[in-house]
Amino acid sequence: MTIKHYLQFSDLTLFEYEYLIERARIIKQKFKNYEPYHPLQDRTLVMVFEKSSTRTRLSFEAGMHQLGGTAIYLNTRDSQLGRGEPIEDAAQVMSRMSDIIMVRTFGHDIIERFAAYSRVPVINGLTNEHHPCQVFADVFTFIEHRGSIKGKTVTWIGDANNMLYSWLQAAEVFDFHVNVSTPKGYDIDYRLVSSDHSHFTHFDNPADACEGAHLVTTDVWTSMGFEEENAVRKKAFANWNVDTDKMHRAAPDALFMHCLPAHRGEEVTAEVIDGPQSVVWDEAENRLHVQKALLEYLVKGTV
Ligand code: CP
Ligand code: NVA
Repeated sequence: MTIKHYLQFSDLTLFEYEYLIERARIIKQKFKNYEPYHPLQDRTLVMVFEKSSTRTRLSFEAGMHQLGGTAIYLNTRDSQLGRGEPIEDAAQVMSRMSDIIMVRTFGHDIIERFAAYSRVPVINGLTNEHHPCQVFADVFTFIEHRGSIKGKTVTWIGDANNMLYSWLQAAEVFDFHVNVSTPKGYDIDYRLVSSDHSHFTHFDNPADACEGAHLVTTDVWTSMGFEEENAVRKKAFANWNVDTDKMHRAAPDALFMHCLPAHRGEEVTAEVIDGPQSVVWDEAENRLHVQKALLEYLVKGTV
């Protein structure tokens, strides 16, 4: 039997996402109503973190607990991974003792190697190239606020990073368009994009990319693992911020999203992230609900 992993956004079909969105809605309602729901009793999630996290750790750990299961946190410093145990060996051992594994690491090749040796489903909790759980939560949040995302325009301002590549995959699955604006020298890596370029357009001018958008989103200028480039990036990205002028170019009811953590005064002004169009707290909360639906689906299959 082939094991279903969730390593990239494109690993699930539109049909599966529609099912999961409905499950996430139901699971969220149960949580809000304090209704116990324990489909994963006696099941164990192992979480491997090679980078820092607040939201991803909290949402997976709390989510697994709320579903009746247990979550175990491992990081590089305290596990043998930090002392050079091969990722393939770690995957075989961890997957014999658990039902599902979440991995946050550096290169995407690392999680692919891990998944190839795992007996249980592996979820990507962020790699340098992809952050599918976050973009799934973002799409869910958009649908909650505005209905279907099909045919809509999402504007991405900033770095060509893991979030962007997951947004580009989401655009293909859900059939919407992404207006992308990245500074020169921080261009889209076309090796990470499918051959279908019909779902995105690149703009040299970030304000032009916002024209008529239904959602404007951005992320840190310097992702984890690239900290030594921070000073150079701050100069290069200075105009690639989201401010009220750019939001005024978007549709009047446009939403603003940011996966967090955010830097007010860098990629977004306080006025925008703390303003009425921002849904960043819903976006963060929805990590919990969509990931619970995902955990249930990957461990048990369709319920
Ligand atoms: N958005 C997100 O993944 O946050 P953390 O790095 O805190 O997990
Ligand atoms: N692009 C950011 C996302 C953090 C959640 C990073 O990789 O650091």
